[in-house]
Amino acid sequence: MADSNPQLHPDTVAVAAGRPDRLGAPVNHGITLASSFASGAGPEYARGDSTDTWIALEEAVGALEGGRALAFSSGMAAISAVLDQLPAGANVVAPADVYQGVAKILSDGEQRYGWQVLRLPTADTQQWLDALPGADLVWLESPSNPTLEIADVPKICAAANRAGVPVAVDNTFATPLNQRPLESGAMFSVQSATKFIGGHSDLLSGIVTVSTTLPHSADAHAGVDSRRTFGGATPGALESYLALRGLRTLPLRLERSQSNAMTLARRLEQHRQVTRVRYPGLPSHPGHELANEILGGPGAMLSFELKGSATGADVRVSRLKLITPATSLGGVETLIERRNKLTGQEHVPPTLLRLSVGVEHVEDLWNDLEQSLSGLSDNT
Ligand SMILES: Cc1ncc(COP(=O)(O)O)c(C=O)c1O
Repeated sequence: MADSNPQLHPDTVAVAAGRPDRLGAPVNHGITLASSFASGAGPEYARGDSTDTWIALEEAVGALEGGRALAFSSGMAAISAVLDQLPAGANVVAPADVYQGVAKILSDGEQRYGWQVLRLPTADTQQWLDALPGADLVWLESPSNPTLEIADVPKICAAANRAGVPVAVDNTFATPLNQRPLESGAMFSVQSATKFIGGHSDLLSGIVTVSTTLPHSADAHAGVDSRRTFGGATPGALESYLALRGLRTLPLRLERSQSNAMTLARRLEQHRQVTRVRYPGLPSHPGHELANEILGGPGAMLSFELKGSATGADVRVSRLKLITPATSLGGVETLIERRNKLTGQEHVPPTLLRLSVGVEHVEDLWNDLEQSLSGLSDNT
């Protein structure tokens, strides 16, 4: 089986892991539509015992991330199951610029459970190291959404391990192909599989992969598993099937999307309407060297800021013909969003546009961006 063979490349693992392994079995696990199983030979009830369809997805993602995966009904369900482990009064260190769903859980935790949340700039490694003594959990998100900052995940994890502090990494933007936090010493790697793993904007799914090597990792896995059983945020059968089907082509999609993103980032940086491009693949990005060192690739997400007003940015977005203005990311189709207009994203520069770069022909994407950006006065 692929997941027991450490020699295979990740691209192969994405294709081969989580397949049925008995002779005569279909090559794909089916969509098991059952809440109950005939008693006496193992699984009894799906909420606690899982179904073949989720287990296949978990095997494949677990093999890529390098740990034991648990699938959930969404990325937020997966994130909640990790954060639910925190006791009242817990000390949490988290990015100041974090996905807004996580920001909401953390601020609710401050109000309801007396959590002490220290919010730090993603890229200021020293501040993270200084914050470790007394922390109960370090939450990282890298590259960050939507400012594409890079955290030094290996360095922070190494120091956190020495201090006995568990680290959770939201690995959604990087995917397990570009970053494997568990290998660096994180306890949890979290994916919104809604995004790159699913890859087609047609499902909601989330996955927590738990270390198998750290002290207390078995307890950490049991805790997250228990939250799924008793919180009930179990994955859907169809969604799990589709997420696994999407994962099979992640290496190909990511390769194309990354190459498109690099070309667009370079051209946007030269465009007279653009004041700043944030993309870890550009030498102008403050985390460029670190990204080269610790990531497998710069990813398919980029953000850029425009001259003029927020209204002008909205007008330009409305002139796009191919690229769809929509939230979310990681699909085959290119999506654009002015993030500052979302609740909880008021700190984001008003004209910042986040681009989730898809697999279309890059010249078609560029032509669409160019025609929407040009042809209006610079100060619109
Ligand atoms: C970085 C990141 N983490 C987590 C989530 C939450 O995932 P979901 O929407 O699948 O619940 C999102 C969703 O946009 C995200 O962008």
